[in-house]
Amino acid sequence: MSTYETMSYHLETERLILRPWADSDAAEFCALLSERGKGTPTVEHIRTSIANLLSATEATGIALLPIQRRDEGDFIGYCGLIIGRSTVEEPEIAYELFQRAHGHGYATEAARAVLDAAIATGRKRLWATVGSWNAPSFRVLEKLGFERDRVTTDDSGEVVWLTRPLP
Ligand SMILES: CC(C)(COP(=O)(O)OP(=O)(O)OC[C@H]1O[C@@H](n2cnc3c(N)ncnc32)[C@H](O)[C@@H]1OP(=O)(O)O)[C@@H](O)C(=O)NCCC(=O)NCCS
Repeated sequence: MSTYETMSYHLETERLILRPWADSDAAEFCALLSERGKGTPTVEHIRTSIANLLSATEATGIALLPIQRRDEGDFIGYCGLIIGRSTVEEPEIAYELFQRAHGHGYATEAARAVLDAAIATGRKRLWATVGSWNAPSFRVLEKLGFERDRVTTDDSGEVVWLTRPLP
């Protein structure tokens, strides 16, 4: 176990609520992953993925959280902290939204809340790893004060590492 506080799993912003996963998120999570264009995972597979996310959170004290719009009450994606290519001490911020929800500043709004939640755990640095083609994601990170660190290459191609020290 790390020496950091457990991340808050319930975050609220002006327009959004981030809260823990429920079984009832499976169908929407499935639809979200389908938008990646690499096929539709089965709902069974999704239930396993959600269970894996919950056990990862149990082990690490950090989480990816579903994002719900306050007014509409709908699931629009997720945002949170993961070990990813980094470490539990200096985790990665991650987010993915339905295409219909892009372009309204939601990712930035959710990620700001996650950044604050990371600060509250006592962490001193976050990372993000982004495909070099992903201009919208770079822009979100730029708005949050992340800076480019280095570029690596793996199975998914060219990956840009960005980092942000936390106060
Ligand atoms: C990345 C993602 C989460 C952004 O969500 P979003 O809610 O639309 O993001 P925001 O509205 O908060 O900010 C997007 C910014 O990118 C800008 N942008 C959008 N498309 C762009 C493009 N092609 N080139 C440059 N900037 C672009 C927007 O104008 C906006 O910046 P602004 O506020 O200065 O106008 C969303 O595109 C997504 O889910 N993509 C698929 C999953 C993914 O790539 N996740 C990240 C993996 S690292």
